[in-house]
Amino acid sequence: MVPLKRRKVSLSGTLNAGTHSSGLTEPTKFPHIVLFLLERKMGASRRAFLSQLGRRKGFQVQELFSENVTHVICENNSGEEVRMWLESQRRRQAKLHLLDVSWYTESMRDGFPVEILDRHKLQDLVVNDLEVIPFSLPSYACQRRTTLENHNTLLTDALSLLAENAELSNEDGRGVAFRRAAAVLKALPSAVTDLSQLTGLPCLGEHSLRVIKDILKNGASSEVQSTKESERFKALKVFTGIFGVGSKTADRWIREGIHNLQQLRDSGHTLNRAQQAGLEHYDDINQPVSMAEADAIRETVGGAVASVLPGAQIVLTGGFRRGKLTGHDVDFLITHPEEGCEVGLMPKLVSWLDSRGLILYQKTTRNSYLESKDGPGRPPANIDRFERCLAIFKLEVQSEKHVKSQSGELCQHLQTEAVAERRWRAVRVDLVVSPVSQFAFALLGWTGSKLFERELRRWAGHERSMSLSSHALYDNKQGRYIRAFSEEEIFAHLGLEYIPPSERNA
Ligand code: UTP
Ligand code: MN
Repeated sequence: MVPLKRRKVSLSGTLNAGTHSSGLTEPTKFPHIVLFLLERKMGASRRAFLSQLGRRKGFQVQELFSENVTHVICENNSGEEVRMWLESQRRRQAKLHLLDVSWYTESMRDGFPVEILDRHKLQDLVVNDLEVIPFSLPSYACQRRTTLENHNTLLTDALSLLAENAELSNEDGRGVAFRRAAAVLKALPSAVTDLSQLTGLPCLGEHSLRVIKDILKNGASSEVQSTKESERFKALKVFTGIFGVGSKTADRWIREGIHNLQQLRDSGHTLNRAQQAGLEHYDDINQPVSMAEADAIRETVGGAVASVLPGAQIVLTGGFRRGKLTGHDVDFLITHPEEGCEVGLMPKLVSWLDSRGLILYQKTTRNSYLESKDGPGRPPANIDRFERCLAIFKLEVQSEKHVKSQSGELCQHLQTEAVAERRWRAVRVDLVVSPVSQFAFALLGWTGSKLFERELRRWAGHERSMSLSSHALYDNKQGRYIRAFSEEEIFAHLGLEYIPPSERNA
């Protein structure tokens, strides 16, 4: 536990060094007050404008952050974000006011520093002895417990965006590298404040470290900013937001000069059935699905399953099983305790739902997995061969924008005006049917997260000479399949500590 040396002056958090000696500057009227305006979220031009204004009114507004600063002025930043930035400046917080821009504008209006009221304060000032404690973690995500509580969202959002951009550009290797780096930061017990804490952590490559360093120093990464704002990235996001459109199709359209949905509609491209449905329900499908909506669909599908095959069981998988409060779709796994009884279930289930007008689109693929024929070879990218129905459901919603929650209070409902008016919304649903002998593997494979699954398979192959899929576990050394009837058993066979779904959010 080595206390950090204090730095006298930091260049970070600033921009092109402006000058204090502008002709407009009046002599300092308030010598005990030294202001610093944080550029993050305020933006460079607004910061320059407000700084000029302050100096004209006789305030000392410093261009660079230093030990002399007494008041930090922020706009649209949370206390946590500013605290993180401040820690990256290695500045103790004692005697430093962290204030909202409202204090500044009111002081400008009155021509003197107004009294600091609670509503001006960004956070309570804590004297915080900064210490650098290095983190340590095992290298595979499936050896770690990753809850939904993430202390490093600023960093993980940035790395995830770069991962997404790489995946959309068909650079899967780079995508995985960024995903692994983000997963490491998600598993940390507290916020990273200094690069030196990361020494010795796995999966942090040169590129990811550069991005992290940028954010710790400047509050943002220019690479992430420019990626996010690039026309190509924006268009890829819009097009892959259409159900049935992958990155290759999106890329082809962009190369043809099509950049938005209207241009796509006008282009006269023939879309397949999935894409037509995807385009038709575009807004709904890109609206997150809530837990309450997932529960409602579970009720419906559960009822349908019970009536077409008594005794069959259904489980909610995917992100909702991991405790996520929203998702991009709803995933279900269905089985029957008697092997073989599940055969023929999917068509009956789909026609039950369809005949009641609950399905807007569906495509069912038949089960094509045969252990004797397929062998243990690891299917690429975990593509499994269960009987599967990719569907768009029509979910009835309450017309009120505000519905009463169970505790009786009014709560905001995730609902657009259009949905409220027509009283239904489209939701992406995945139905998967598994024979009971493969159920534990299917459940593990469909619970995710995607990176957690990838890491489980990598662990199995590299560390245990085993092949894991959503159908089976095969021991390559012994040349035999290992049966399992619960997720706990699979972890045990892999020589891993059991990680419950809520801690698989890698
Ligand atoms: P999802 O893509 O639905 O992700 O896949 P998610 O974690 O539920 O997140 P959101 O909230 O919907 O965005 C769920 C799991 O199903 C597996 C994935 O690996 C993931 O772990 N899966 C998905 C497959 O095994 N095969 C597929 O074809 C699709
Ligand atoms: Mn899902």
